Amino acid sequence: MNPLKIEDLSGIQGDILLNGFPKKAEVFSFFTIRATQQFCQTIQTVASSKIATGKDIKDLREQISKLPKGQIIDVAKTNIAFTSGGLTKLSNSQRSLQRGLNGLQNSAPSFVVGMQNETEREALGDPVFSNWNLNQNGGGSIDGVLIVAGIKMETVQAELKNVYSQLNKGGEAVIELFKEIGVERASQPGHEHFGFNDGISHPQVFGINNSPSLTFQLDDVVQPKDTSNFVDPGVIVVGRHGDENNPKPQWMTDGSFLVFRKLEQHVGKWNDFVVNKWKDAGSSGPAQFGAQLMGRWQSGCPIHIQDQRDDSTLALRNDFDYGGLTKQGKCPLAAHIRKAHIRTGFNSTRIMRRGIPYGDDFRNGQPDVGRGLLFACYQSTIENGYRFIQTAWANQPGFPTGDAGLDVTIGQGKATDPPSPFQIGTKSVNINPINDFVTAKGGEYFFAPSMKVLRAGFNIENLEAKL
Ligand code: HEM
Repeated sequence: MNPLKIEDLSGIQGDILLNGFPKKAEVFSFFTIRATQQFCQTIQTVASSKIATGKDIKDLREQISKLPKGQIIDVAKTNIAFTSGGLTKLSNSQRSLQRGLNGLQNSAPSFVVGMQNETEREALGDPVFSNWNLNQNGGGSIDGVLIVAGIKMETVQAELKNVYSQLNKGGEAVIELFKEIGVERASQPGHEHFGFNDGISHPQVFGINNSPSLTFQLDDVVQPKDTSNFVDPGVIVVGRHGDENNPKPQWMTDGSFLVFRKLEQHVGKWNDFVVNKWKDAGSSGPAQFGAQLMGRWQSGCPIHIQDQRDDSTLALRNDFDYGGLTKQGKCPLAAHIRKAHIRTGFNSTRIMRRGIPYGDDFRNGQPDVGRGLLFACYQSTIENGYRFIQTAWANQPGFPTGDAGLDVTIGQGKATDPPSPFQIGTKSVNINPINDFVTAKGGEYFFAPSMKVLRAGFNIENLEAKL
């Protein structure tokens, strides 16, 4: 399979690589397709005029890197992704796509059945998303999602309207069912609702992040000097070098699978827990205990580097490993960032996270619901990426050793499972199998096709050979 070069970014949707869309506001707009033939027509124009490519985002980030501090570029960028049901619907109008979907149940089984399939739901440990996909606006299946992001919400909403009107030029091809709205927290920019700096550690991609033509600094994260944070492009992008073990239909080349999850955060419960339990854990105070659960202090400072106090000068350090899968060090084995990324050089499970918080800040005495994280991530194989991290690591108190504990942030078990101890050195604190702090409220699996497929309106006949 081919490596990926920086020139190839013009064929890949823009939110996938190079830290994705610059954003403080984002809308995930879930739609159903009403007229497949018309949609296959209008998407061709929309692909050229509205869907941001990786090159567009590289150029935008380069422009931003040259701006004087405090200045912004007020634009909104759009991507699009489809459910398995959405692709099947489109294949009614595009015979070539019908053939293209053959065998997908073997190469992308979770995608094909969807996140709320009973077996899948059980495997993830999810509740039923009873209040999420009610399809408010007249009903219909979720066929896809428009992802629109920018700095100002008004610009984002206006762009979304624009995209829908172009998709519906000449008749109603598609309608919005409902949307999820994410905004950066004004009180703590860049921090999720539990108060921790988020969006620091992303894998770098061979051919892209080390390209000599990437002439500007992407962010201020301190990466390892060696290539230990690099992944083959095929870990994220379908059909590229590194995706050899999970072959998918050829038309999917240069696409990526998107996992979306609406994760409600119970901030009051988290705060009470760290305040009430830090002594049992042998920690020096609630702040240290919180950092031990997460693996970084609130500033982002890795506990593996500094375990005594938060040090914001270390916030963006990403140049560390834990010295081995089971080596007890300063960072507990079950800390969220350690469970989700073991840092042993085993890199096929890496994902590109693109989440954003939703809801207002928590205030004491107010209901502990209605806020959280719109979690989104890209990978070339859901079974290796999101799904593996969730089911084989976060949900398993026995990973990486028998007594490590559940990932307190995202781990979820069965009501019948016994509470599991979260191990910190020689001490431990019991965690309920049903996660008290984060509740999955909704979510789905999507596929974000290449620009070629979108520009061809899903007529993949001529693309199979060319890709
Ligand atoms: C409400 C839910 C979640 C919260 C509050 C949360 C919070 C955080 C924070 C604060 C970080 C550290 C900052 C950073 O490196 O970006 C982080 C890192 C990370 N999270 Fe989450 N997260 C959540 C859900 C998830 C889910 C569902 C997954 C995947 C199954 C996940 C996977 C990761 C990964 C892979 C990292 C990077 C670890 C590293 O490379 O060191 N997170 N998360």
